[in-house]
Amino acid sequence: MRSLSGIQPSGEAHLGNYFGAIRQHVEIEGIYFVADYHSMTTVRSAEARRAHVEELVLDYLACGFDTETSILYRQSDLPETAELAWMLTTVTPMGLLQRATSYKDKVAAGFPADHGLFAYPVLQAADILQFNPDIVPVGQDQKQHVEMTRDIATKFNQTYGREVFQLPEPQIHEDVAIVPGVDGQKMSKSYGNTLRMFWPEKKLKKAVMGIVTDSSPVEAPKDTGQTVFQLWSLFATKTEREDMFARAKAGGLGYGDIKKDLLQRLLDVFGPMRTRREELASRPDTVQDVLRTGAARARVLAEPIWAAAREAAGVGAPTRR
Ligand code: ADP
Ligand code: TRP
Repeated sequence: MRSLSGIQPSGEAHLGNYFGAIRQHVEIEGIYFVADYHSMTTVRSAEARRAHVEELVLDYLACGFDTETSILYRQSDLPETAELAWMLTTVTPMGLLQRATSYKDKVAAGFPADHGLFAYPVLQAADILQFNPDIVPVGQDQKQHVEMTRDIATKFNQTYGREVFQLPEPQIHEDVAIVPGVDGQKMSKSYGNTLRMFWPEKKLKKAVMGIVTDSSPVEAPKDTGQTVFQLWSLFATKTEREDMFARAKAGGLGYGDIKKDLLQRLLDVFGPMRTRREELASRPDTVQDVLRTGAARARVLAEPIWAAAREAAGVGAPTRR
């Protein structure tokens, strides 16, 4: 069973990225990459992009990503992905892309409506199909992109009469489909409502204490659907959750107490990872070494599929048999 997924280097990775993506990428052996080409649709600074790539690789390593069993590479180290995206774009119906909600959301959020943003799902399809993975572990918001990938794969296979690509399945962690931000909306870099797992304690504390709650007094029973309970639940076992929710419903539980407990849990879980991250960051070549090895290993896996796509479409020299 082959797993493949990517994450954009578009800013500081946060708890939503951790529970929605990174944690699964660490747990499921597979091929993972830093989508720097994709980040070009929203990040226009070369310097910022390079820094984000570096930070994200360190985050993965700190979170326990095993570069022996899994592959971590940088998207642009396999430029053939962009060639494959072109081959796929020639069979992608405009209507399919026009239905993409992430495009509409980004334009509504003020990003320029350029062709790269519009064609984003086609590049994502190329990322995926070049490895013919069985599953693509992603957050709920990426489900549509994986479904579009399936449509594009089918279109290419039908057009050229060959089963070059297999259809991948999105794998969504149902428990944590959407991690809320401190303001109760979806946690996202673009909303400025994140909690970053590797922030220094002081900054993390300030953000946790700022999580929105209703204004019910301590004695009142609490609505456990609130953001603070959802965030806290990410770090609790089922029994702990049941106990806490029973206390909340009985009244007498202050929001300050649950926030303090959440902060402690954040520090307990991510503290050791932060120490490890600092060690890794102090060695200058760590990130580049990981990316170089990752790209070489990824290339070996993608090459036969690139060749099959070229062969099917009749571009490039015929593959020698
Ligand atoms: P952001 O919204 O902060 O820009 P990205 O779009 O770069 O995050 O998401 C990277 C990965 O993290 C994706 O797989 C996405 O599904 C997941 N993810 C992002 N935010 C959340 C969230 N709040 N809850 C769950 N998963 C998330
Ligand atoms: N679009 C994804 C996101 O914003 C990142 C991504 C790019 C991706 N290519 C991918 C995810 C391929 C899974 C598979 O999070």
